[in-house]
Amino acid sequence: MSTVKEQLIENLIEEDKVSQSKITIVGTGAVGMACAICILLKDLADELALVDVAVDKLKGETMDLQHGSLFFNTSKIISGKDYSVSANSKLVIVTAGARQQEGESRLDLVQRNVNIMKSIIPAIVQNSPDCKMLIVSNPVDILTYVVWKISGLPATRVIGSGCNLDSARFRYLIGEKLGVHPTSCHGWIIGEHGDSSVPLWSGVNVAGVALKTLDPKLGTDSDKDQWKNIHKQVVGRAYME
Ligand code: LAC
Repeated sequence: MSTVKEQLIENLIEEDKVSQSKITIVGTGAVGMACAICILLKDLADELALVDVAVDKLKGETMDLQHGSLFFNTSKIISGKDYSVSANSKLVIVTAGARQQEGESRLDLVQRNVNIMKSIIPAIVQNSPDCKMLIVSNPVDILTYVVWKISGLPATRVIGSGCNLDSARFRYLIGEKLGVHPTSCHGWIIGEHGDSSVPLWSGVNVAGVALKTLDPKLGTDSDKDQWKNIHKQVVGRAYME
């Protein structure tokens, strides 16, 4: 007697098993899982793969996403500690690495995380030679350069998250100070992600009104509103639990 599935489903054409927009996330810590949730809810991938060495945590995180499948469209969520699960990825997001301990700067992580990149990048490229890579692990600017060199990929396919997170925090804090939603508060932080980043006060504007025209001392030591403290909060975020 045929099974219920055989009675229910008749494949009229061969099912296309090759994903067209597969994304792999390496590292299932807080940042990696935040990426996973965003990718799933924004419907960015037809397949999502998670890779981590902590297999028990990896299994739990994967099951949580799989069990939430009715809330998004990604049909295939897989995971494993072997990089074969990442095969045929269009995008690989690297969040794996040692994290800052009490009093450590992002730069203090460099040697440990360069060593981790040396151990994982070759396997990623071997399984997905056509992928683009987004590096988030810290110190992100140095590691992005290191991953580019290790991977042998064109520079256009190895991108770091840079100061995007700093700029998002900057815009939120400007909005909090003014009581304006961050989407209407524009401003950029550039340079190295972290302690040595640079706020571009000349470009800060709210709905097109440049704040520097309202106070030419904006962001300087003699600025009576001490706007520079906003940048201090952005830098200090890395040292808060
Ligand atoms: C931070 C880490 C991602 O700034 O560098 O939260």
